Amino acid sequence: MSDASANLAPSECMVADFSIFAPPADFYENPYPYYRALRESDPVHRNADGSYYLTRYEDVRRVYRTKGMTSDKTEMFTKKYGPGPLLEQHTTSMLFSDPPYHTRIRNLLRHAFTPRALKQLEHRVIELVDDLIEKCRARGEMDLVLDFAFPLPVEVICTMLGIDTRERKRLQEWSREILTPLEPTATPEMIADGNRAVEEFSAFLRDLLAEKRGNMAQGVRAGDILEDLIDSQDSEDDPLTEDELVQNCILLLNGGHETTTNLVGNGMKAMFDNPEQLRKLQEDPSLIGSAIEEMLRFDSPLQIGNRGIAEPFEVGGITLEPGTQILTSIGGANHDPEGFDNPEAFDITRTPNKHLAFAAGIHACIGAPLARMEGTIAISKLVAAFPDIERKGPIGRGGRARFRGLTSMPISV
Ligand code: HEM
Repeated sequence: MSDASANLAPSECMVADFSIFAPPADFYENPYPYYRALRESDPVHRNADGSYYLTRYEDVRRVYRTKGMTSDKTEMFTKKYGPGPLLEQHTTSMLFSDPPYHTRIRNLLRHAFTPRALKQLEHRVIELVDDLIEKCRARGEMDLVLDFAFPLPVEVICTMLGIDTRERKRLQEWSREILTPLEPTATPEMIADGNRAVEEFSAFLRDLLAEKRGNMAQGVRAGDILEDLIDSQDSEDDPLTEDELVQNCILLLNGGHETTTNLVGNGMKAMFDNPEQLRKLQEDPSLIGSAIEEMLRFDSPLQIGNRGIAEPFEVGGITLEPGTQILTSIGGANHDPEGFDNPEAFDITRTPNKHLAFAAGIHACIGAPLARMEGTIAISKLVAAFPDIERKGPIGRGGRARFRGLTSMPISV
């Protein structure tokens, strides 16, 4: 049985003392026994700061589906980050806003994820995956995270936005520095790095936008989504301001790469920990669709969401009042026996599989079709190319509670 499915007795987990802001060291390695203990004895867990941490499937699903919730984090982020570029970025991005602003931005960005737009990206994903696989074949080994899962998504988003992929390394660093302060606890260093990263990233995008505008004025177009967004600025119907455009491009870049890296890394780790499932997929490649859904459920790349209560909300027999903050445990919900039969088993044939890895409701991941496409191509090609693929040596883990992923996983082929 894999470490992600190991079961500790709830009493061993000391639920009463549990804090998602300072979890025990072994939580990062394997949070699932803690989620289980919380679900069973304290599913509406009150945190020391007065917020609540919900671990049951139905409760988390209801939070995402209920209208009386807010994603606006202005007050929370002002306290957490203080004034500066990081605060501006996170409060202008549609992820942390409510309708009507959220609806307006989402409607504009949705064009990037239509089946037609994704079809255009598909050949690039295939090309990239084939190239990474050939490099691995030549060496007989690779680090599945560093050499495969990490480079792929950022290259794809660069292609989508028309950014030179040689900028990949800088983008990955900025993205990580901007996202890390979203962890339940952010140190002053994390916040300082986040502020600097937003400043540098915004300057980079403003230069890129100016260059694209210049090209477009001369009739030279590359056909990327950035050009569509620039076009939308000419519309009379509430166009995007320059700041809104920049901040939401940063969101797209940030939202789409580490999560997708973690889908491929966590998903393949689950396969190595459950070799009979790996063999099953190799014998029947048509299982890739349900396999990807199971990877998303079993070790979800994004484990925590946040919502604020805007209207009184009853959960677990108590009424939470407006102003209360909620943390949703996506990982806990996705392992709840009330939502999934035998949830600790990794089963690539699982159906139905109504996991919450992409959340639900109006903020449900806009990039989900792209993530699914990338995951499907990457993993199906990898396991088909290397019948003897196996893990070799210890894995490295990021040690973050919200973004769950690996930093390293050596393999041999
Ligand atoms: C396996 C990969 C991914 C996972 C697990 C994931 C997960 C999520 C989740 C849970 C949310 C909801 C957050 C909330 O409201 O609290 C979300 C929103 C979002 N995601 Fe993803 N995501 C993935 C890939 C992507 C990709 C590839 C992109 C874009 C290229 C993307 C862009 C976004 C954006 C822009 C939002 C905000 C949507 C809104 O507020 O309406 N994500 N994602």
